[in-house]
Amino acid sequence: FRTIDDIDCAGKRVLLRADLNVPVREGKITDLTRLERLVPTIRELSEKGARVIVVSHFDRPKGRRVPEMSLEPVSAALAAVLGHPVMFAHDCIGPDAEAAVAVLKDGDVLVLENTRYHAGEEANDPELALALSKLADIYVNDAFSAAHRAHASTEGVARHLPSHAGRLMQAELDALTLALENPERPVGAVIGGAKISTKLDLIGNILAKVDVLIIGGAMANTFLAAKGVEVGKSLQEAEMHDTARAIMAQAEARGCRILLPVDAVVAREFKANAANDTVAIDAVPADTMILDAGPLTVAYLAKEVAKLRTLVWNGPLGAFEIAPFDVGTNTLARAVAALTKAGTLRSVAGGGDTVSALRHAGVVDQFSYVSTAGGAFLEWLEGKALPGIQALTSLRGIALPT
Ligand code: 3PG
Repeated sequence: FRTIDDIDCAGKRVLLRADLNVPVREGKITDLTRLERLVPTIRELSEKGARVIVVSHFDRPKGRRVPEMSLEPVSAALAAVLGHPVMFAHDCIGPDAEAAVAVLKDGDVLVLENTRYHAGEEANDPELALALSKLADIYVNDAFSAAHRAHASTEGVARHLPSHAGRLMQAELDALTLALENPERPVGAVIGGAKISTKLDLIGNILAKVDVLIIGGAMANTFLAAKGVEVGKSLQEAEMHDTARAIMAQAEARGCRILLPVDAVVAREFKANAANDTVAIDAVPADTMILDAGPLTVAYLAKEVAKLRTLVWNGPLGAFEIAPFDVGTNTLARAVAALTKAGTLRSVAGGGDTVSALRHAGVVDQFSYVSTAGGAFLEWLEGKALPGIQALTSLRGIALPT
């Protein structure tokens, strides 16, 4: 697909699909990463004299004007991060948007109100896509993290305008391609999380691509139990034992080694600083639950990771939100960061919880690449085609029938 290298954008109106869906708690933005990562594209377009019209969804207002889901405060935060004034329009189409676009000068930046205030966004309504496209001459998509949604502003609009990938989109795709499609081998993956049932497609796709698969979190309990290990009161999916066994057989057939915990930190209560013990994996007391990988496991995993050239990480090893059950995740994440710094490992992480786990471990800036995407990262790991990316390659400039 084309990038912004291929645009002569001086004086042009550029509709930039960004992902301004930042995390907010009690009305405050808690993490500016998504805004910071947009800066290169916005700055480059603006410096080249484009009139930059930023469009995004925010949260899930489901077609209603929910005031708490306005992008106005986010546009102010974007201005601060950019160090450049940002204008705001109270709608993403219609008279407000048109008037705001009409007064733009070369280099100006405008943010349009939440696209999901219109039900047509999620429905990928051709009329909304057409109305958005009429605001601009060129479409640039920099929202990899929303590319798994076939919505009017991520997919529909690309049918009407010459469409290009922004710098963040490029960076995400380059990093992900180097990690799984074309990695330096051996390549491994850390897949954690609570349930196998939600990550079946992901595991199936990853198995075919990696040499080593490290299973962490409660998901590991299901694999252990499927092998006949007594996991006490640990969170696990009893109905997935056959599936877990099938996955292990498939991995073996493909020459992919699955690594499971050899010891665990167990407790009787799921709460911060609960009394806990470290036990061998075949000695989990019946009245306890596994809340973290044990030190032997972490040391063994760190040794295995040291043999890899590429690692993809999604999901924590334990209940990292509550101390001291964050130790396993923290320790392995720091080992990965050290190998990355030493230049022997390319490390790529993504998916909601993963980024908070790495931030908690203090290494979020020390991986080779940390994706801004949650759901889109997972769908990419599943091997699915993402509609927002397909639109950049196949639908560019093809008008919908009216
Ligand atoms: C995300 O935060 O993962 C993206 O912005 C997509 O948001 P959504 O899950 O509400 O579509």
